[in-house]
Amino acid sequence: MTGAALERLRKSYLETHDRSEPYAPEVPMPQTWPEDLQDRSRRNSIRLFENVGIAREDQEARAANWRNNFQFFNAPALAILCQDRTLTEWSIMDLGTFGGYLMLSAEQHGIQSVPAFSSVAYPKLLRAELDIPEHLLIRTGILLGYAEEDHPYNRHVSEREPLEHLVHFKQ
Ligand SMILES: Cc1cc2nc3c(=O)[nH]c(=O)nc-3n(C[C@H](O)[C@H](O)[C@H](O)COP(=O)(O)O)c2cc1C
Repeated sequence: MTGAALERLRKSYLETHDRSEPYAPEVPMPQTWPEDLQDRSRRNSIRLFENVGIAREDQEARAANWRNNFQFFNAPALAILCQDRTLTEWSIMDLGTFGGYLMLSAEQHGIQSVPAFSSVAYPKLLRAELDIPEHLLIRTGILLGYAEEDHPYNRHVSEREPLEHLVHFKQ
């Protein structure tokens, strides 16, 4: 979605976020994360905040940074990825692959992307704006636009897990 429809959604998302309405994604978020992932995520957040220049105790700046999610980082386009409800976990790989190729294809056209859980935090608003039929489950959203290369956010490079932790070679 883009243009006037996206601007309406951006406004309603921000208003809903500012009212502190709880997120209600149709695919539930894990209650707890595996410890190693949680640790890496925490380290990445700390480094990201350092890069952006937000102090740990600066709650106001942290809230403004989070709020930016709900105006979709000003991206000019948003793709919502859905799947038939009957497909179960069996088909997660299909949609994941689709999303990955969508981002690679966008990049080839000079368009950058950010998969963003925050864009599907309020599915009621998405359903109202996009007329998404009930048999489709809203799984995720991908923001599309043009990266500001010199923005402090984009100077941050996330820590990567070493290859030998991810792949087990056996001969
Ligand atoms: C499924 C998924 C959902 C995500 N949701 C968000 C989000 O809501 N807000 C956000 O700031 N980053 C979110 N991220 C992380 C950014 O997309 C990611 O940090 C960015 O694309 C850069 O990738 P990198 O950190 O792996 O380098 C999400 C990532 C994935 C894979």
